[in-house]
Amino acid sequence: MTKYAFVTGANKGIGYEIVHQLADEDYHVFLGARNEDLGQKAVQSLGYANVSFIPVDISDTQSIHNSVEKILEVTDHIDLLINNAGISLDHSTLPSELKLETLRQAFDVNFFGTFQMIQAFLPLMKKAQSGRIVNVTTDMASQTKFDNGETAPINALGYNSSKTAVNALTLAFGKEFGNDGPEMIGVTPGFTTTDLNGNAPGGRTPAESAQIITQYALSDTTHNGKLYDENGMMPW
Ligand SMILES: NC(=O)c1ccc[n+]([C@@H]2O[C@H](COP(=O)([O-])OP(=O)(O)OC[C@H]3O[C@@H](n4cnc5c(N)ncnc54)[C@H](OP(=O)(O)O)[C@@H]3O)[C@@H](O)[C@H]2O)c1
Repeated sequence: MTKYAFVTGANKGIGYEIVHQLADEDYHVFLGARNEDLGQKAVQSLGYANVSFIPVDISDTQSIHNSVEKILEVTDHIDLLINNAGISLDHSTLPSELKLETLRQAFDVNFFGTFQMIQAFLPLMKKAQSGRIVNVTTDMASQTKFDNGETAPINALGYNSSKTAVNALTLAFGKEFGNDGPEMIGVTPGFTTTDLNGNAPGGRTPAESAQIITQYALSDTTHNGKLYDENGMMPW
């Protein structure tokens, strides 16, 4: 049976490389992007017969439902859902200076968008033999790491707390799904040089970070309801 994966925010950065790596593993991969032109171009530049474009803006409920309908034209099941799409708008803004609107935008995409993706794709995930949902998170979302100083230098309340809320989704849905599936995990790729951080130097390449995510996505081990980084389980 053909295995299907859906990766959001995959026209560039880490998501693009996740599509690349899953396509190499013989998945049929739906490359999700909010911009039609950029999505089509990404599919063309990958050049795989087993990669196809699905338009999806995760901050738009109708767009998410349209993406479900489009995928149902091809298959009734999704084996892997990689909730990778995300934004960071306040990397250099202190909490006291953060605008409410900017905080809302971060939650609209990172938290409410991911939440809706999970609910909308649940019926297709349940039809897979052993479906897995990976929520892409960040070290900076860990309250433990922030509190003990490991990630303290970047006090980006909007980005960090919206991803902490994504971690709460991982825990909550993981508890609901239990052993019945689909499995739900959070994975952080760690600091990666991409457009998200203005291509700040010194990070991993998107391909290296994608490897960390696909390794957990494809693992035979059960990780349900937990957070992981390259070294294993990560504190909340
Ligand atoms: N870079 C890092 O250091 C780092 C570290 C830890 C975790 N992460 C996480 O890794 C994931 C990928 O980030 P990246 O570094 O590869 O960043 P990126 O290059 O900026 O890619 C982000 C992707 O998300 C898409 N996106 C943004 N808002 C969207 C929306 N409303 N609907 C659908 N797609 C949307 C973007 O589309 P457009 O091209 O249209 O904007 C783009 O394709 C994010 O969840 C991020 O939080 C990154």
